[in-house]
Amino acid sequence: MSQIKTVFPVTKKGESYMKKTIRDIDWAGKKAVVRCDFNVPLDGDTITDDIRIRAALPSIEYLLENGAAVVLMSHLGRPKGEPKPEFSLAPVAKRLAELTGKEVKFVPSDVVVDDNVKAAAKDLKAGEMLLIENVRYKAGETKNDPEFAKELSELGDIFVQDAFGSAHRAHSSTAGIADYIPAVSGFLIEKELKFLGEAVNNPKRPFAAIMGGAKVKDKIPVITNLLDKVDILIIGGGMAYTFFKSQGYSIGKSLLDEEGLDLAGEILRKAAEKGVNFMLPVDVVAADEFSNDSPYGVYDVDEIPDDRMGLDIGPETIKLYTDTLKTVKTVVWNGPMGVFEMDNFAVGTKAIADCLAEIDATTVIGGGDSAAAVAKFGVADKMTHISTGGGASLEFLEGKELPGIAVIDDK
Ligand code: 3PG
Repeated sequence: MSQIKTVFPVTKKGESYMKKTIRDIDWAGKKAVVRCDFNVPLDGDTITDDIRIRAALPSIEYLLENGAAVVLMSHLGRPKGEPKPEFSLAPVAKRLAELTGKEVKFVPSDVVVDDNVKAAAKDLKAGEMLLIENVRYKAGETKNDPEFAKELSELGDIFVQDAFGSAHRAHSSTAGIADYIPAVSGFLIEKELKFLGEAVNNPKRPFAAIMGGAKVKDKIPVITNLLDKVDILIIGGGMAYTFFKSQGYSIGKSLLDEEGLDLAGEILRKAAEKGVNFMLPVDVVAADEFSNDSPYGVYDVDEIPDDRMGLDIGPETIKLYTDTLKTVKTVVWNGPMGVFEMDNFAVGTKAIADCLAEIDATTVIGGGDSAAAVAKFGVADKMTHISTGGGASLEFLEGKELPGIAVIDDK
């Protein structure tokens, strides 16, 4: 499969969606096999964040109301091809029943699809739903094993792909299954592609991307792709120090991504060539240790002490970044500005989250840490869109083809 190819299932004008969706099917008397991303955080068997389950509800409810019998499947964690009780989808079945107010039949099986599961799927009536066990209990799943894909396909008539968070995986339940039955997208996939796609490919300008996180190397493809699209690129988080180092500054004990060092210099040159306003912090908060209790201070970027490490952006940078963000019309944010899990180093990330909540712009939050940050600071409902995909949204922003999207039938 080709890489680094922009696959954009929405027209350049963002007007119409080019893939078949669940609206294109007459569901009466049909059985949907729906791939969701129910990979939710668990504490024991308590789900600590059910946003991914809630995000799947519009498609599930639409299917149930329109006469389909609904077979649901997902992975949870990485059980590595073996049945492991701590990765069972049983808590998800319970939560889904609470959220929908309907019965969710759950037929556990160590091999995911056994005779009991097949019988339950066969007997499933219109308006009923069945959840099968974690597809990653089966080793074939992550290898995109055709046998397993076929087994899954035989549970229903039409594959509904709604697992945006897993769309960057070419697995039996996200891709291979589409070789056996027709494939359409659900509402979540449609929504994710609309917001991420429109932001990146048809943005109202000025368009800014905010990139944070630790490693430059991991973010190179996305930064490179975005340099062709954005007017402003704002850098924060651990990766800023690799950029400082590449400019000859001393960064003390701050994080350095050695492998990303040359790439950082290259990015700065490219940004200048393309006329992108590439913004790096002008001051940082640096501490003795990676601990909330550590003594810390604010330093200009050319004055980071040898014995301290940068853990957040400083107040001047916050002012510079938020003043800039007040002028933009579209923002995509991926990666925190500092160690926002520690209160003393959460100020920069919170300031950006609060600013995005207030500005009159389309605000799109990549999944993972940035989504966790807007939730933590209580501004999630002020954002235009929060992606349910961490890795998937990053790969989308890199301009890569997502295998789980590519397999959906065209209109
Ligand atoms: C995620 O949480 O990003 C998705 O559910 C994918 O999980 P994975 O990285 O284990 O494939």
